[in-house]
Amino acid sequence: MIEVPQHLKGRDFTRLGSWNTEELKTVLDVADSLKELQQQGEPHELLPGRTLGMIFQKPSTRTRVSFEVGIAQLGGRGLYLAANDLQLGRGETIRDTGVVLSRYLDAIMIRAFAQDDVEELAEHADIPVINGLTDYAHPCQALADLMTIREKLGRLSGTRLAYLGDGNNVCVSLMVGAARFGMRFVAATPPGYEPDANAVTAARRAAVQMGGTVELVSDPQEAARDADAVYTDVWTSMGQEDEAEKRRGDLAAYRIDSELLKLAADDAIVLHCLPAHYGEEITEDVLYGPQSAVWDEAENRLHAQKALMALTIA
Ligand code: CP
Ligand code: NVA
Repeated sequence: MIEVPQHLKGRDFTRLGSWNTEELKTVLDVADSLKELQQQGEPHELLPGRTLGMIFQKPSTRTRVSFEVGIAQLGGRGLYLAANDLQLGRGETIRDTGVVLSRYLDAIMIRAFAQDDVEELAEHADIPVINGLTDYAHPCQALADLMTIREKLGRLSGTRLAYLGDGNNVCVSLMVGAARFGMRFVAATPPGYEPDANAVTAARRAAVQMGGTVELVSDPQEAARDADAVYTDVWTSMGQEDEAEKRRGDLAAYRIDSELLKLAADDAIVLHCLPAHYGEEITEDVLYGPQSAVWDEAENRLHAQKALMALTIA
């Protein structure tokens, strides 16, 4: 049975920026080991009898299934909690919810609209709180993204990662993660779609310490040129459906297609957190093409989150 370090027990994972490089590297290393054990069919029930509550205010395929299957493979169980079926949906406070759930559960994963709600839950719950996506950030996705890049390229430090499109929650966590590992991160967005300015400042500070860079540009071709990994996400995130038409117009030049991919390094990989919209942010041929690492990236959600749970749940 694999031994996991104990020093991260009890920690919340509400944003990537509150974990340092060493801590994040520990997650990636444990994730690699758990993936190997899984592939060899070796049991790794590190969390027998533990229960993970999973609160969802928004839909999900990958996050829900990978957490539920992940905790089961670790010997525990997952409890799906639709936010609207909880008293939370009728006005019970986040504080009371956190205090009560801490009496039953061993950890909470929450997918919410407001980042502040996740932080408030973490403040009041006595058990680890894991952010499964907010309007602001998607730190679990970034763990799987970093794991995938390291797996495919053999390293993180010094590699050039180009993010194209909407500077959204996925972009913010990816940028902070890339900076933490000394990558050369560049985001190409139209004006008005840049990632959160405070996150950019924090990421740049981390990048300087780690020998990496964080660049913002508006030209998608400039970003894609010589990139080792090219990343995109949907143009309309959950909750923005009313703006979909405007976004399709504003972001049309930022699609990853085979022409744009030619600008990247010959062996560049393509990443997308999914779900994808063929013909919008990515073309079908690229998504299913030889450079796509998208499906391994989706699989790695499972391994990265199992590592996160094994490290944080007591
Ligand atoms: N990438 C991701 O978080 O997918 P889901 O919305 O399906 O969970
Ligand atoms: N940016 C997308 C990510 C989905 C996993 C959204 O928030 O809807």
